[in-house]
Amino acid sequence: MMGGTQGGMGKALAVVAGALLFSISTAQADDDLVAAQKQFVTSCGTCHVVDPAAGPRQGPNLAGLVGRKAGTYPGYKYSAALANAGFTWDADNLEKWITNAQAFRPGSTMPYRQADPAKRARIIAYLKSLSVQK
Ligand code: HEC
Repeated sequence: MMGGTQGGMGKALAVVAGALLFSISTAQADDDLVAAQKQFVTSCGTCHVVDPAAGPRQGPNLAGLVGRKAGTYPGYKYSAALANAGFTWDADNLEKWITNAQAFRPGSTMPYRQADPAKRARIIAYLKSLSVQK
């Protein structure tokens, strides 16, 4: 009985595996974004939210961050290091900032550094995706 069904099982499994591979590749972009969001929540979520309707936490709200002038979210009390930064957030300065915030802007009150380039890339991709949707 078992012997007779094994060949068919093998074929069925191969078809399922093929279908899975196909859906994985078409869903890759979505999966990347889900991974990116998870990374953001894990690494930054204790201190930051991105929902424009939510208030600040320990750090300022990051809604629409990419393209926003540094140190300008209404109602948040920034350090002079950020209030006087004078630049607009983009992928480049975000990369430097989350690599080591206090080395990039000495005097900043954000105690964060991330040594893993893959994690930094995911976080920045997530923040960029939010600004495109806005
Ligand atoms: C322990 C809390 C904490 C964590 C974790 C944290 N931040 Fe911050 N963040 C802050 C604080 C506090 C400030 C305000 C810094 C200042 O005024 O010098 C800030 C400011 C910022 C700003 C400046 C925003 C603006 O309006 O100019 C950005 C961008 C930012 N954080 C991104 C991130 C990202 C991305 C992560 C995760 C990789 C992260 N932060 C993790 C506390 C945190």
